[in-house]
Amino acid sequence: MEDWNMKIIVTKDYEESCKVVAGFLIQQVQKIPESKLGLATGGTAEGVYPILVEACRQGEVDFSKVTTVNLDEYEGMDPDSEQSYLTYMNKRFLIPAGIDSTKAYVPSGMNDPEKEIALFNEKLYGDDHLIDIQLLGIGVSGHIGFNEPAEELTAGVHIQKLDEGTIQANSRFFENPDDVPREAITMGVGDIMKAAKIVLIATGENKASVIRKLLMDDQITSSVPATVLKMHRDATIVIDKSLAESAGWKD
Ligand code: GLP
Repeated sequence: MEDWNMKIIVTKDYEESCKVVAGFLIQQVQKIPESKLGLATGGTAEGVYPILVEACRQGEVDFSKVTTVNLDEYEGMDPDSEQSYLTYMNKRFLIPAGIDSTKAYVPSGMNDPEKEIALFNEKLYGDDHLIDIQLLGIGVSGHIGFNEPAEELTAGVHIQKLDEGTIQANSRFFENPDDVPREAITMGVGDIMKAAKIVLIATGENKASVIRKLLMDDQITSSVPATVLKMHRDATIVIDKSLAESAGWKD
């Protein structure tokens, strides 16, 4: 029988969550070496990549045949800068895991937006191979990718104006809060929902209120974009005990 409910995994701590999430990705690639991986940046995902790289070094998994597509990038961000998601991905995963740059796509925030949206769609759909597994974080606003709360959500790739809360939360990665870009290019919620499997990792007390809305009621609302995951066939939410407690979640 098909299970339409999100699966919730509560781990003892963030480190354990990273191991669980990395395990999903490793299993996928062990099963299908040519998998298409949807990847995420952000502070929470940071702990997942070293586990993947280590597994690769140990010969447990080989990433050389995968293709990857990242969720998003800030508009106006120079791909060569320290804060770019390309730099993040290259440093933490793509280069140490031996993934050829021609097989990895991180959107550019420097290109003409219309051209970049077309290229993004080409990477998502041009090879007739939908994403096999999508890694997600969640923003304090409840965003997935950079799909911010709004009256209406956008299904496809688009340019998104960022929430004040997101700008504030992400200012920790910049020298000056004014340096945080105000817009981003992102997969839409429809693109994310097309992934065969979704794994979302969250940690930290500041995520408690959105995690509560994601796990503890039956509402799907554009004011918490992550709640669309309640409609996905195979979505797993991985949180640690401390976040589960702050959110009031009980198994
Ligand atoms: C970032 C990214 C998201 C990420 C989320 C959570 O801004 N665009 O893809 O999942 O916000 O980030 P963090 O893990 O740093 O809280």
